[in-house]
Amino acid sequence: MPTDVAIETLGLRKSFGDVHALRDVDLAVGRATVFGLLGPNGAGKTTAVRILTTLLRADAGEARVAGLDVVRDARKLRGQIGLAGQHAAVDENLTGFENLEMVGRLYHLGRRLARERAGELLDTFELSDAGRRLVGSYSGGMRRRLDLAAALVARPPILFLDEPTTGLDPRSRLELWSAIESLVRDGTTVLLTTQYLDEADRLAHRIAVMDHGSVIAEGAPHELKARVGGDRLEVRLERADDVGAAIDALAPLFGEGARGEAATVRVPLTKRQGATAQAVRALDRVGVGIDDIHISGPTLDDVFLKLTGHAAEEEDSDETDSSARR
Ligand SMILES: Nc1ncnc2c1ncn2[C@@H]1O[C@H](COP(=O)(O)OP(=O)(O)OP(=O)(O)O)[C@@H](O)[C@H]1O
Ligand SMILES: [Mg+2]
Repeated sequence: MPTDVAIETLGLRKSFGDVHALRDVDLAVGRATVFGLLGPNGAGKTTAVRILTTLLRADAGEARVAGLDVVRDARKLRGQIGLAGQHAAVDENLTGFENLEMVGRLYHLGRRLARERAGELLDTFELSDAGRRLVGSYSGGMRRRLDLAAALVARPPILFLDEPTTGLDPRSRLELWSAIESLVRDGTTVLLTTQYLDEADRLAHRIAVMDHGSVIAEGAPHELKARVGGDRLEVRLERADDVGAAIDALAPLFGEGARGEAATVRVPLTKRQGATAQAVRALDRVGVGIDDIHISGPTLDDVFLKLTGHAAEEEDSDETDSSARR
């Protein structure tokens, strides 16, 4: 494995009964970069993370992390990686400080060093004030931050984050994003899973889109967005009957790409600037009432629609008949 590759998989496969969680997954993650595994519920993201963190064995294929085989060198590898799982794995009956101290002791840091490191990390994640409180009283965002801190106790060069910001409020999300960015600036490699295109776009150098256990697209965020299309203007009308009139009024400004659905009209934009004001004026001129108007970027759903021709589906709509599995 070249030294600039931190994580590499070749033909990874894993099934649970007749559910193909991973089908021949090939990934390569550069050192000190962020790699985003993007996919809907049931795509296989957590399965991939569990295999890469030695918690689960693949049925076939190979995976190397930090140059170590995930099966043959599992024990050695565990000292090189940190994992913050999809559900925060912190102990509610301990304080934040005690949680981190315990992890330090598990890594044989010794009492003094473990306590030092705990204090340092609480500081980094702005949990110092809450550090003496039981985790049971923490908010979701605080637990996530503590979980991430726990994954960092041993200063692992490679970090796995499984949906790190799911369920967080916008502010906690931003805080976690900047914490991740600063780790990567200091040389950490991060593989993160997410269901949010904007999250992958903001953090990841490369993104692999997963669907039903397969990687269906891979590239830099800007490549992916170029394939999917850019921003769109969304106008919710006061009356659904006005959809036709609205499309006609907007066509001279934005071209023919506008689509209507119920009382909402969506128009692909080549340029954001001035689009909202122009649209409001044009609709006003023809007497179409606007309930809401905003510009939105592409979402995971848009990616799926473009790449697969269907919306992101949940695991039950796998081609294996889900009723046959019950
Ligand atoms: N231990 C297991 N036993 C049976 N089926 C499993 C097991 N783990 C995962 N699966 C199935 O494998 C598929 C992939 O699951 P996985 O948890 O990897 O998806 P995911 O992309 O992480 O989804 P989510 O976004 O919901 O976390 C799903 O159909 C899931 O039900
Ligand atoms: Mg998952």
